[in-house]
Amino acid sequence: MTSRFFTPEEFVRVDNEKEFMEAFDYYLNQPRERNAIVLKGMRRMFHQHTYFQGGILIMTFTIAKKNLVADLYLAWLHNLDLMRLYVSRSNKEMGYYNLLFSIAIAAHPRVVLELGTGPGLSSLAFARALQYYRKCSLVKGVLHTCDIDPDAIRRLRRYLNFGTLVMPHPVSTDELAVQWAKQPVPIDLLFIDAYHSHEQSLKDFKHFASYVVPNGLVIMHDTFPLSEQHEQIQYSGTVWKTAQSIKKDYREDFEIMTIPYLCGISLLRKKGAKYF
Ligand SMILES: C[S@@+](CC[C@H](N)C(=O)[O-])C[C@H]1O[C@@H](n2cnc3c(N)ncnc32)[C@H](O)[C@@H]1O
Repeated sequence: MTSRFFTPEEFVRVDNEKEFMEAFDYYLNQPRERNAIVLKGMRRMFHQHTYFQGGILIMTFTIAKKNLVADLYLAWLHNLDLMRLYVSRSNKEMGYYNLLFSIAIAAHPRVVLELGTGPGLSSLAFARALQYYRKCSLVKGVLHTCDIDPDAIRRLRRYLNFGTLVMPHPVSTDELAVQWAKQPVPIDLLFIDAYHSHEQSLKDFKHFASYVVPNGLVIMHDTFPLSEQHEQIQYSGTVWKTAQSIKKDYREDFEIMTIPYLCGISLLRKKGAKYF
């Protein structure tokens, strides 16, 4: 359709992704030729075309690159989340959200299990990453989120359309472990952030670690308290002891590192597979 509005000197026509990449490489190394086409094309667009036709041109370029639509959709949602967090939360929490989001993007999970929905910061980060892959691949990832407080899950519904994306579990993590054992589902990304005692967080780890796939990730929050006062249960509690005991007792199965940021985020990779 673009050929109806522009002459061959004013735009570059590509019909598929291969042609797009070839044209991209070629014009990247031909700045004179490229700039001449851009200038002529822009002159034509500004002088003769309506916004509608300009929109068609932009859309044509957008569709030419696979995943760009998914990228733009994600950028839109992600920036909305960041704007909302910016007005309501601290900068560090934005960093926390970004970190979880980036890990989930890198992990490309099918199944995420989050223990502790809480205010939903982590849920949102994981859900956005899953939404991204739902847009640009066939993988229909699911976020299982568990909280003993049904209000936490109710609140999350205000920000997220659950559909088939989010599977809520308004039960204790112990109860969920019993249910999970009856119908086991392999977990690609396990996030532990429910009750902050050493005993419970270790139980949570033990209950679900066996379902984590080889090369799957476990993320634990609150493993590096800011001060002694933060070892109280309403803050980071004694989850740091769990990270230490996993490091000691599970070294054959998991490698672990702790980022000393926002009360500590530990990242564990399950061993057992050399390649993906
Ligand atoms: C620290 S908040 C979770 C924060 C959330 N992950 C985030 O990043 O926004 C902990 C949540 O775990 C829930 N919780 C505490 N003990 C639990 C248990 N035994 N089983 C399930 N959820 C529990 C609490 O109701 C609370 O909402």
